[in-house]
Amino acid sequence: MGGGLDIARRARAAVAGVAMAWAGVGHAAVPPVLAQAISRGAHIFHHDSFGSRVHPVSDAAQAFADMDGGHAQTRFMTCDVCHGHGGLTRGRLADGRRIPSLRNAAAVFPRYSAKSHRIVTLEDQIRHCVIDGIKGRPPAYPGATMVDLVSYLKSLAAGQRMAIGGAFH
Ligand code: HEC
Repeated sequence: MGGGLDIARRARAAVAGVAMAWAGVGHAAVPPVLAQAISRGAHIFHHDSFGSRVHPVSDAAQAFADMDGGHAQTRFMTCDVCHGHGGLTRGRLADGRRIPSLRNAAAVFPRYSAKSHRIVTLEDQIRHCVIDGIKGRPPAYPGATMVDLVSYLKSLAAGQRMAIGGAFH
C-alpha cells in the first residue's frame, strides 16, 4: 500500500472536496487553520477506526472469504460505513433502526435524552457512536480528534436552521 504518499493524496482530495462544499454554499472565507481542521475531520470520518478491529461485513462472511484464500479484509469500521457520503445520506442498521443524515446534526445538539435522563451534547453523541457503532476507543472531549470531528460536522450543518433539541434529518 502507498503508505505516507497515499495518505497525503487522500488528504489533498479531502481538502479539495471540503473547499468545494464551502464554495458551493457561498460562505465567507474560512480561516485556513479552521479549513484544515474541517478537512482533517473529514479524513477521520472516512478513515479512522479508533483502534477497532470490527469489519464492516459480518465476521462469518469474513471467515468464509479467508477460507477461500481471499485477501483478508483490511478495512475496519469507520463513521462513513454507517453515515454514507461523508454523513450526507441516511441509512439503516441491520436491525432496521434508522441512521439519520448528519446534515443538521451540529445545529440540533445538545438534546435531552428521556431514556438516560440527561443532556446529550454533540461530543457525547460522537463518543457514543465510536463506542457502540465502531467498537473503538472514543476520542477525548478536549482532544484534537474531537475538535476536528466537531469542525467537520459543523461544516456540514453550515446554513441549516439552528434548532436546539430539534429533530434530525
Ligand atoms: C454502526 C453504525 C454507526 C457508526 C459506525 C457511526 N454511527 Fe453515528 N449514528 C448511528 C445511528 C444508528 C444514529 C442514530 C442515533 C443513535 O442510535 O445513537 C447515529 C447518530 C449520529 C449523530 C446524531 C445525528 C442526529 O442528527 O441526531 C451524529 C452526530 C453521529 N451519529 C456521528 C457519528 C460519527 C462522527 C461517527 C464516527 C466517529 C459515527 N456517527 C459512527 C450509527 C452509526
